[in-house]
Amino acid sequence: MTVALKHSDSITVDVALGERAYDIVIGRDLLGSLGARIAALRPDARTAIVTDRNVAKHWLDDTEASLAQAGMATARIVVEEGEGSKSYAGLEQVSEALIAAKIERNDLVIALGGGVVGDLAGFAAAILRRGVDFVQVPTSLLAQVDSSVGGKTGINSPQGKNLLGAFHQPVLVVADTAVLDTLSPRQFRAGYAEVAKYGLLGDAAFFSWLDANWRDVFAGGPAREHAIAVSCRMKAAIVSRDERETGERALLNLGHTFGHAFEAAAGFSDRLLHGEAISLGMALAFAFSAKRGLLPVAEAERVERHLTAVGLPVRSSAIAGGAPDADRLMDLIAQDKKVTRGTLTFILARGIGASFIARDIDGAEVRAFLVEKLAER
Ligand SMILES: NC(=O)c1ccc[n+]([C@@H]2O[C@H](COP(=O)([O-])OP(=O)(O)OC[C@H]3O[C@@H](n4cnc5c(N)ncnc54)[C@H](O)[C@@H]3O)[C@@H](O)[C@H]2O)c1
Ligand SMILES: [Zn+2]
Repeated sequence: MTVALKHSDSITVDVALGERAYDIVIGRDLLGSLGARIAALRPDARTAIVTDRNVAKHWLDDTEASLAQAGMATARIVVEEGEGSKSYAGLEQVSEALIAAKIERNDLVIALGGGVVGDLAGFAAAILRRGVDFVQVPTSLLAQVDSSVGGKTGINSPQGKNLLGAFHQPVLVVADTAVLDTLSPRQFRAGYAEVAKYGLLGDAAFFSWLDANWRDVFAGGPAREHAIAVSCRMKAAIVSRDERETGERALLNLGHTFGHAFEAAAGFSDRLLHGEAISLGMALAFAFSAKRGLLPVAEAERVERHLTAVGLPVRSSAIAGGAPDADRLMDLIAQDKKVTRGTLTFILARGIGASFIARDIDGAEVRAFLVEKLAER
C-alpha cells in the first residue's frame, strides 16, 4: 500500500467474468496507446467514437490520432454534454449515427467520456444489430472508478433514471488519469466520493490511506493511479462474483438510498451532483448505523471528518436551494428501485470497511432519524 509508483507504470486490473472477461488499464498518458491496444484486440474492426462536446474539445483529436496511427478507421459521434443525452433522443442520435457509420457485428464502439457517454454508448452498442462490442475510455473520475466497470448501460425514462438498459460488458477499459486534469474540480471531488465509498464499504486500510493521501490523489500524482486501481479492483471483484446484482453487488449502493433521494429532490441538477449526494448519503448511512448501535459514534464522525476535509457535503443544509423535508425524502426512498415489496433495504456498516446489506428496515425508524438529522446545521 505504500509502494511508490512511477508515472510510467500502468496498472492492469482484470475483470474475471469467464468468456466476458476484460482488462482495465490504468495509467497516465495512455490515450496515445489506445489505438495500438484496440488494434491488438480487433485488427480489422471499424470503430466509432461516441463522446460529448466538452470531452471532444479536450480529447477527441488525440483519440482519433491514436487510432489513425494504429491504422484503425474511425467515425465520430458527438452528443450534447449532460444527463439530458441519456434519453430516447440521445439514443436515437447515437444509434442512427452508428448505423450510418456502418458499424457491424465485428466492429467496435468506443465510449470516450463520463458516465453519461459510457451508459449511452454502451446501451447503443448493446442493441445495435443485437449487440456490438464496445470499449470504455472513461474521462471523469466517477466513470474511471465506477460507471465504466461492470457492464451496466442504459438511458433514463421521463419517469425515472436508468429505467431502460442492458447488462453489456465492455471488451476493454482504458483509464488515462491525465484526462482528469481538464475535469472541473467540483466534478473531480464528486467522483472522489465513490473512491471513498470503496474504503468505507470494504477496505478500512484503503480508507486510512485515503485519509493520509487524498491531497496527492487530487493533485494527480501516482497516488491518483493507485486510488483508481484499488477502486477498480474492488468493483471488479464484486462484479465478478455477482454480475447481475442478486446479492453482494448491492454493497456498491452504500450511501445511495439516502443519496438518490436527495439527488431526486434537487431535480438531478447542478444543485447537487451525484457524488455530492452520495457523500451526504454515506455520512447518513454511518450515522444511522451508529444510532442503531452497530458502530461507535466516533467511527461515524471519522467518516464525516474525511468527507468534509476533501470538501464534500455531509449535512443536508449544504444543499443549494435548501433540503427537502423528511416526508418528501421518505416518498422518494419508497420510489427507489432498491425497495422490495415495501420493506426498506439499506447498506449499513459495522465499522469503516465493514458494510453489509440490511433488509427489513422499519420506515418509521428511518423517518425519525431523518427528522433529527435534517434539524442539524
Ligand atoms: N453504469 C454504471 O454502473 C453507473 C455507475 C454510476 C453512475 N452512472 C451514471 O453515470 C452518470 C454520471 O457520470 P459522470 O459523473 O461522469 O457525468 P458526465 O458524464 O455528465 O460528466 C460530468 C461532466 O464532466 C464533463 N467531462 C467529463 N470528462 C471530462 C474531462 N476529462 N474534461 C472535461 N470535462 C469532462 C462532461 O462533459 C460533463 O459535463 C449518470 O448518468 C449515472 O447514472 C452509471
Ligand atoms: Zn454512485
